[in-house]
Amino acid sequence: MFVFKRVVSVRGIIVPQCTSLSVRMFSACHCLTSPKRQSPYSSVDSERYSSLVKSVMSSRVSSQTPESLQAEDEHVFGPVVKAQTPSLSSSSGPKMRVPKTLHPFLHCQENPETDDLEQGPPARIALNRGQGRSSVPSVTRILQQTLSLDQIFYLERWRRKMIAELGEEGFKEYSQNLFRQGKLFHSALEDTLVSGGTQQNQSPSERPEYPTEVQGCMQSVSHILEDVRAVRAIESTVHHGTLNYLGIADCVARYRGVLCVIDWKTSEKPKPFLSNTYDNPIQVAAYAGALNNDSNYKYQVENGLIVVAYKDGSPGHAHQLKPELMQEYWKTWLVRLEEFTEQRSSHVSSAALEKR
Ligand SMILES: *[C@@H]1O[C@H](CO)[C@@H](O)[C@H](O)[C@H]1NC(C)=O
Repeated sequence: MFVFKRVVSVRGIIVPQCTSLSVRMFSACHCLTSPKRQSPYSSVDSERYSSLVKSVMSSRVSSQTPESLQAEDEHVFGPVVKAQTPSLSSSSGPKMRVPKTLHPFLHCQENPETDDLEQGPPARIALNRGQGRSSVPSVTRILQQTLSLDQIFYLERWRRKMIAELGEEGFKEYSQNLFRQGKLFHSALEDTLVSGGTQQNQSPSERPEYPTEVQGCMQSVSHILEDVRAVRAIESTVHHGTLNYLGIADCVARYRGVLCVIDWKTSEKPKPFLSNTYDNPIQVAAYAGALNNDSNYKYQVENGLIVVAYKDGSPGHAHQLKPELMQEYWKTWLVRLEEFTEQRSSHVSSAALEKR
């Protein structure tokens, strides 16, 4: 009975003989095995994943990872027996596939970095969806729509397990709470960083009170915040004009003297290693690459930092992404961006076909 259930759920997600991570191959296989003209993505990338995926890999919350999902899943169901299924390559490190065009991560800047850039208040460029920008996709959207089949598989199993435990409503509430908490955490950080200069010497008792929900998280990252200085941007839009995507970077600041694009995450589970952070490194590289190509910013950023905060107040983790690693994740990002573009254009052409 147990085994039977497993096979069904495996089959439900992973198309037999079609376990490649490539979106294009998936579409191609699907077309061979199914004559339906329905887009293959409408079955996989349906709306019902959007809030789930949002809660799992939004720019604010990182509560689950494929690793932890997989571990949890195996604990409940036993290990998954997979044939011809590649490992969780996109989450466990840069992928093997290489981008067709290697767009540069860094650009020569006419105005080299100067220290007086660090004097003024942090930039906070608002997202402007007007001016013909409404169709520019965001980094999170592109990452969500190019999840590997493995990632979708584990997300779906996790979702089902959570719903079995909490019920549909309970799960919805759980996801919303996570999201809300991430939001509160971000505004608490913002307040702290913006007024940071005057508060660095204050004792903890003199610091402002945070909402109860985020006190644990703030406590968790307090030792990391001590090393964050010279904040240049907070919740600021970055736009890659040539590659045509945008995102809102959490923070650009110096961490232990090194200028970084910083991403804050809350997590319920320990993430002591970079490999636990899901697609977050790709996200950080995408933001940095966009910032480096955005003339609103008169400097270049080569490093990244992912800070994981824990609700229970235990010491958070700071995962540094050195320039070499950022370059690797930049390539992975370019691949995901290519997949997204291919997916989009195949949607357009299949829609055109249907009209005929
Ligand atoms: C953006 O990138 C393109 C190539 O990818 C380059 O030609 C252009 O000069 C860059 N713009 C800026 C402002 O860095």
